Amino acid sequence: MSKYLIAGNWKMNTNLDEAKSITDRLHSYLDYDSEVELLICPPFTHLSFLSELIDLSRISLGAQNVHSEKNGAYTGEISIDMLLSVGCEYVIIGHSERRSIFGEDDKFINKKVVNSLNAGLRVILCIGETLEQREKGETFEILENQLEKGLIGVEKIINLKIAYEPVWAIGTGKTANKEQISETHEFISKFLIKRFGENNIKILYGGSMNAENAEEILSIKNVNGGLIGGASLKPDSFLSIYNTAIKLC
Ligand code: 13P
Repeated sequence: MSKYLIAGNWKMNTNLDEAKSITDRLHSYLDYDSEVELLICPPFTHLSFLSELIDLSRISLGAQNVHSEKNGAYTGEISIDMLLSVGCEYVIIGHSERRSIFGEDDKFINKKVVNSLNAGLRVILCIGETLEQREKGETFEILENQLEKGLIGVEKIINLKIAYEPVWAIGTGKTANKEQISETHEFISKFLIKRFGENNIKILYGGSMNAENAEEILSIKNVNGGLIGGASLKPDSFLSIYNTAIKLC
């Protein structure tokens, strides 16, 4: 198992040419034997093309969302089977932008998690508190609630990862400080040990992670990787985070 997972969430950015150029750059650089796994999660429209372009043993490919149902009248949605059929290995579920902008609740998120894991997709379940919740001292309660509800019925944890993304740190240039990351990741790790009896589950940090702060963040105990937005669109920055992870192995 790799030591770190460095994941890029491209969100709704890049056309196909731009996606190809970022991916080519990553692909030509990557270290074959590294203990760090590099994952890109481009928009749905690019998945099929990129899975043909890249060597999936060097770069992993993921989607940013999925629908919970197998198929049917869900206009505009993408199923688990569709993702698997184009070589997609990962899916991000419950990102705070899905929760807040598109109104996804824990029940829907849980259904996606369970069905994706059962189908063999690797799931990155995102959790995190808003600034208001943090200021009211509710951070741990919110995280526990999102974990409990998001993981109902989950038995097999082999393909599960958790991303802690404080909502107030996403795309704002503000990162959580060392103590905040350390205590939340420890809390999540303890929850996972209690819930599953063991914890081989990677816990990623997300929120304004970049080439400059990666070393400090990735050195924190219980931080097993990053879920990176803005900086993952700049190949040099993304590769610098990847190299930092290699250095820390
Ligand atoms: P930024 O790295 O742009 O803050 O985004 C983080 C994120 O939301 C990754 O899923």
